[in-house]
Amino acid sequence: MNISLSILNMNYNHLKEELNIVKDDIQYLHLDIMDGHFVPNISFGPSLVKSIHKENQFILDTHLMISDPMKYIPDFVNAGSDFITFHLEAVDDPKAVIDYIHKHNVKAGISIKPNTKVEALLPYLSFVDLVLIMSVEPGFGGQQFMENAIDKVSYLKKIKEQKGYSYLISIDGGITDETLPKVSSYLDLAVVGSYITGAVDSLKNIQKLKHISK
Ligand code: DX5
Ligand code: ZN
Repeated sequence: MNISLSILNMNYNHLKEELNIVKDDIQYLHLDIMDGHFVPNISFGPSLVKSIHKENQFILDTHLMISDPMKYIPDFVNAGSDFITFHLEAVDDPKAVIDYIHKHNVKAGISIKPNTKVEALLPYLSFVDLVLIMSVEPGFGGQQFMENAIDKVSYLKKIKEQKGYSYLISIDGGITDETLPKVSSYLDLAVVGSYITGAVDSLKNIQKLKHISK
């Protein structure tokens, strides 16, 4: 299992320094894009993603919490995203969005909010490279882990093995050293924000999570 570090609650004034601290311990960066419409918060756009891409080697895992992902996919591709994940709830034709992301030679992820049933993803699982289960209501970092995500990641692992699918199983929201053990055996990628970025010693918390996932 890998960690994808969410920068949402980082201090953007010191982003460069903060990323430097973790760069040898973290491979993936999780970039939360919010439009104030799909979720009740606004974060940042492609220009920040681009500057991170230019100055770092991280694999960029872009999470679009926006109402019109199709419109902005090219911008996030050009900014250097390696994965682009959109929300099932935001679009009428998820397969068309997956195809559009793939047309740009970027890996495609699909995500569901806590109140969406995991079975709703079934028609798309053979096409996607990543499935992101939200374990908080999207919009803010630092929220409490919602337990209904556990059955969802376990179901995704079962389907993946049964059908021989290749998507990465990821979870997002409220991951700490207390909640990760509940899901780590089902995961390929754990998105972690405030447990690392809000820590006095971020490297120590990264090591704690890595130890759990072994
Ligand atoms: C929530 C975001 C998450 C969030 C994770 O809408 O998608 O990526 O920043 O942060 P923590 O780990 O603090 O819940
Ligand atoms: Zn996210």
